[in-house]
Amino acid sequence: MPEPTDASSPPEAPDPADRSHLHPETKAIRAGRADNDTALAPILWATTTFVTPTIDEGRRMATMAGANRFYSRYGNPTVQGFEDAIAELEGAESARAFASGMGAISAVVLGLCSKGDHIVAQRQLYAGTQLLLQTACPRFGIDVTFVDATVPGSFAEAIRPGKTTLVFAETPANPRLDLADLDEIGAIVGPITVVDSTFATPLVQRPLDHGVDLVVHSATKAIAGHNDATLGVVAGSEELVQWLWSFAVLQGANASPFDAMNGLRGLRTLGVRLRHQSESAQRLAEVLERHPAVTRVSYPGLESHPQRELAKRQMTLPGGLLTFDLAGGLEAGRTFVESTRVAQLATSLGGPETLVTHPASTTHVNLTPDELVANGIEPGTIRVSMGLEHVEDLVADFTQALAGILP
Ligand SMILES: Cc1ncc(COP(=O)(O)O)c(C=O)c1O
Repeated sequence: MPEPTDASSPPEAPDPADRSHLHPETKAIRAGRADNDTALAPILWATTTFVTPTIDEGRRMATMAGANRFYSRYGNPTVQGFEDAIAELEGAESARAFASGMGAISAVVLGLCSKGDHIVAQRQLYAGTQLLLQTACPRFGIDVTFVDATVPGSFAEAIRPGKTTLVFAETPANPRLDLADLDEIGAIVGPITVVDSTFATPLVQRPLDHGVDLVVHSATKAIAGHNDATLGVVAGSEELVQWLWSFAVLQGANASPFDAMNGLRGLRTLGVRLRHQSESAQRLAEVLERHPAVTRVSYPGLESHPQRELAKRQMTLPGGLLTFDLAGGLEAGRTFVESTRVAQLATSLGGPETLVTHPASTTHVNLTPDELVANGIEPGTIRVSMGLEHVEDLVADFTQALAGILP
């Protein structure tokens, strides 16, 4: 029930800083400007250290979580602008930026888990995360169980009460675009739940709204969006982010102010880039699905995606990534990626240039043959990161490259 209004007091003026009613794209334009003074663009605080007028002030800064005017490994105003923007877009109380997505993920895993703890992680993961969980965690006495994120209830079933401290998911997953159900992960009680939302960005899904505790991004990708910044970020409650900050200050994988500035610049155009890339990916996915050299196309916008209904439920757009398999295996894959003329062969994603990647030989090269199969990666699997070129130039480019491998 609304409170009765007191006719004798004047109506409260709207708070000009309140952006809660705005659309996410508008928030992405406005957010993270607290330290801009009158500059429209972010100010680059390219300094390692800050002058403190007294030792009392120095002591206060040295012990304050998130201090952003003490020493840049602890915090920095440009980096803080980026952190504030991500926190706002994710609906989080706080965020901490890192030198890369892996910096953020390793802080979450190693900062929150101790010897004897157990992690439930999804099997379909970016290979760097998978290797961290598979190789570093056992060295520190942390046990990890991998589950198939596409099987309902698989995360909850693998939890060991009193032992499992962390549940780690990635959705959509790299590179097969498998989805994890955010409502299901958010409903888990006990362990801290984490979602790597890199492929979606905060404009496509907000895991915290589903009850997830922490969201991580490789902001190197679509958030910074121009292949010129290596950057990661974690967002969640003040309490969890402060805890991570205490670890991050010792870990030293802090974001550079320059990369954070590029992260903020990227956020301003994220909405239009995502819409364009999603539309192009949809068109290309439909063309590839009908092509005789292609055996399977994975794209959350296709009716054939096995989790299409889940995609519609938790994502506002299907995104700019798609993955397909070539009938001719490795040789077909090699011929294809070496004959595109508009799309370029490179790892990474989310930038203006369309990139084709051969996961089995690059991003996931360290996985065993069995692990590759478990991740849905075949010798002829190609991942595509749609750029901002005209889509018909890309359709023509893919068609000419595919013509070279037709029997
Ligand atoms: C889903 C996902 N998470 C994390 C990472 C790691 O990010 P970074 O390269 O910024 O360390 C990547 C890199 O490709 C990724 O695709």
